[in-house]
Amino acid sequence: MKTPHRLKLARLPTPIHALKNTSAELRKDVYVWRDDLTGFIDSGNKIRKLEFLVGEALAQGCDHLITCGGPQSNHARATAAIARSLGLGVSLLLFPKVGFNPDTPPNGNLLIDRIFGAEITWVPLKEFQAAGSSYDPFLQREMENLKRKGKKPYIIPLGGSSAIGCFGYIAGVEEMLRTWRAAVPGSQAPDSIFCAMGSGGTYVGLSIGLKKQNLSTQLYGINVIGPVETANNYITKLRGAARDVGLPADLSNAHLIDGYVGAGYAIASDDDLRFYRDTATSEGIIFDPCYTGKAFKGMMGEVKKDPTAFGKNILFLHSGGMFGNFAYADQYKKAFGI
Ligand SMILES: Cc1ncc(COP(=O)(O)O)c(C=O)c1O
Repeated sequence: MKTPHRLKLARLPTPIHALKNTSAELRKDVYVWRDDLTGFIDSGNKIRKLEFLVGEALAQGCDHLITCGGPQSNHARATAAIARSLGLGVSLLLFPKVGFNPDTPPNGNLLIDRIFGAEITWVPLKEFQAAGSSYDPFLQREMENLKRKGKKPYIIPLGGSSAIGCFGYIAGVEEMLRTWRAAVPGSQAPDSIFCAMGSGGTYVGLSIGLKKQNLSTQLYGINVIGPVETANNYITKLRGAARDVGLPADLSNAHLIDGYVGAGYAIASDDDLRFYRDTATSEGIIFDPCYTGKAFKGMMGEVKKDPTAFGKNILFLHSGGMFGNFAYADQYKKAFGI
């Protein structure tokens, strides 16, 4: 596949800097790749994928974006922001867990979706399960509805994780290397990269990108999506799709690490929140309770478990997610009175 059409949406390159206290604690040189700074509202890892996905949508003459996710999906919010900045319509299919009440005042990402006037459809868990836990029929149904109204919709899959979406981090690796070499004189590349593994596009894209640059850097994806089978399914499906279009996706440099998702996707324990608060205090960086916080905790846990592994230079990908924090305000208040 030739490189898909790319829009310039993100503020790139994003910086890389040392994490002094984390480095001292782990006795490694730990750096953070600040992809939380790709843009304010359309921030994080998602915009790298969306540069290619929305590029493709525009190349096909589409005028409406459809995507899906949880009520606090960073990807859905970034898609809404980009759609509006380009004058496109946007439909978000949101899949809440049991007990979620869509009538409560929105906060975090959902509030931003609402402000952007995204067309939101709630898909009850029962319907999702009846469809074999597949997002596809709901995305297709929305597409047919919009076509009947004369629109030209474009479907972006969960998390923007498709073969086209992978190009975001294939290009991201090339950019990262230039930044890395300026930030870490004398080093050609990090020994290890850690990232959150959700719908897979970041992990698979990074793996392919590292391979394309002939680097021996090893990639570690911390499962944050739920049962490890789900994570493996996403990876297998995406690896297949990437290979189908000719991308070198053997993933031999990539390792999925389980054990840090806790009670489930988007569920953080009070201990987790304490950890995020402590990191914010010691490093001046805020992680989110759904993705980056668990991934960072996973990186620390793994390096402590085996200090001889992972090499000397470690790069942690901060993939964004700031707005998700606001959905945990009540829990922060109950646990710590803040
Ligand atoms: C902030 C943040 N970090 C990491 C991820 C995981 O990335 P991916 O879905 O590409 O695995 C996501 C989305 O799922 C996210 O929103």
